[in-house]
Amino acid sequence: MTRKIAIFDTTLRDGEQSPGASMNTEEKLVIAQQLLRLHVDVIEAGFPVSSPGDFRSVQEIGRLAGDDAVVVGLTRAVERDIDRAAEALSTARRPRIHTGLGVSPQHLAEKLRIGEDECVERAVHCVRYAKRYVQDVEFYAEDAGRADQAFLERVIQAVVRAGATVVNIPDTTGYQLPDDFGRRIRGLADNVCGIEDVTISVHTHNDLGMATALALAGVKNGARQVECTINGLGERAGNTALEEVVMALRMHGEELDGHTDVVTTELTRASRLVSRITGMQVQANKAIVGANAFAHSSGIHQDGVLKARDTYEIIDPADVGAAGSEIVLSARSGRAALRHRLGELGHSFDDQDFDEVYQRFLEIADQKKEVFDEDLESMVQERDRETRAVYVLDALQVSCGDPLVPTATATVTDETGATRVTCATGTGPVDAAYRAIDQVVTVHGDLQEFSVKSVTRGIDAIGEVTVRVQADDGTPFTGRGADNDIVVSSAKAYVNAINRMILTARSRQEA
Ligand code: KIV
Ligand code: ZN
Repeated sequence: MTRKIAIFDTTLRDGEQSPGASMNTEEKLVIAQQLLRLHVDVIEAGFPVSSPGDFRSVQEIGRLAGDDAVVVGLTRAVERDIDRAAEALSTARRPRIHTGLGVSPQHLAEKLRIGEDECVERAVHCVRYAKRYVQDVEFYAEDAGRADQAFLERVIQAVVRAGATVVNIPDTTGYQLPDDFGRRIRGLADNVCGIEDVTISVHTHNDLGMATALALAGVKNGARQVECTINGLGERAGNTALEEVVMALRMHGEELDGHTDVVTTELTRASRLVSRITGMQVQANKAIVGANAFAHSSGIHQDGVLKARDTYEIIDPADVGAAGSEIVLSARSGRAALRHRLGELGHSFDDQDFDEVYQRFLEIADQKKEVFDEDLESMVQERDRETRAVYVLDALQVSCGDPLVPTATATVTDETGATRVTCATGTGPVDAAYRAIDQVVTVHGDLQEFSVKSVTRGIDAIGEVTVRVQADDGTPFTGRGADNDIVVSSAKAYVNAINRMILTARSRQEA
């Protein structure tokens, strides 16, 4: 059995420090509920001294979590902060005070303006002071990533003796390389007396895009807690993403000697919830939870995934609560992907028909970045209409504008294979197109109704036109046409109605 790695979620504290991501107490409670559903071990609920809102959030989340998670309040190494955190945490069944101060030369000299001895004294004092309130005290050595290793070991040794239950080693500025950070954690694990009874925690930032790698290097070298946030929210470039750490531990648990108790099927829901509440969009190519995390676009990949999902996917989307592998149909998609998707939508074609369908698909794909299901449905319906056609509109060219006279040139082929090109002017482009078509067709239809709607998404959407045309005997016929160009859709709809009119008249004569 591998070691249990505790997941310490700080979405509500460090995550909230993302510029623009602030949340009110009610919103934090909704997220906390989802964190409990995920079965995280620890929830850092806020920084109680910082504002009445943070104080209330810690109080309420303490109440909500009950025995299900440790609830943490952050403090500086300042008595007033610790008093306030203890007060806010009085509602929690499993309270933890998270206190500490900077330990790097930069923090000592520039921010705190103290020497090393005073730093150790303050560290010990804040741990002892917090211990007066709660048994569970986590000490953070801020900017440990840039600290002198011997001094870091000295501080950690002192706080372990003072009673810290967890020691947090943050790479606050995301400066380290994974191997170096791993050695830092190993040094602490090897050199600090009594550390075996204390949990080493890692808290890493993503300034060089390595937050997850740093955290895992920490785990590999002795850390038993990882501090992270949903979607990697956090100061500047963010914190370690919870979903990445959890899934990496799930895939590489043996090598890392660790597992978590997180319910991975709740990860996607958690990601969407946090994104919706904070307004922080998840980048499409974000690992695990990005919109493209299980989307396949190139024909070669699509073919591979359709044959066996694991050719191009290391995670089953269902394991993280995602809808499933997605085949993105675009101009790069191959026949296999199109045939597969059409099959899923209930359309099958013999090889010859499929060739035609594929050519039409490529025409649409050339005009659009992505071909959606609605485009495919519309394409298939359009084709059905054409296969039962007396007349087919091959081409339509329209010029219009102010002060131009709307003029249309239509190319129409009839069922005998004869093609005619006609030209007409009208009151508008649609009227001109209809008049040009009227010169070819053998029946007359009176346009009664005309409506247009967009059937797909985006600026390049397909527009579907529906018309009602009345035959000379008063019978109404409906026609539909779809195209990216709504004047072409209108002309197709008109031709479709005319075809129905002719086919109905023929079947009446035959009866
Ligand atoms: O990044 C950091 O060092 C922190 C501490 C307050 C734990 O967020
Ligand atoms: Zn941080």
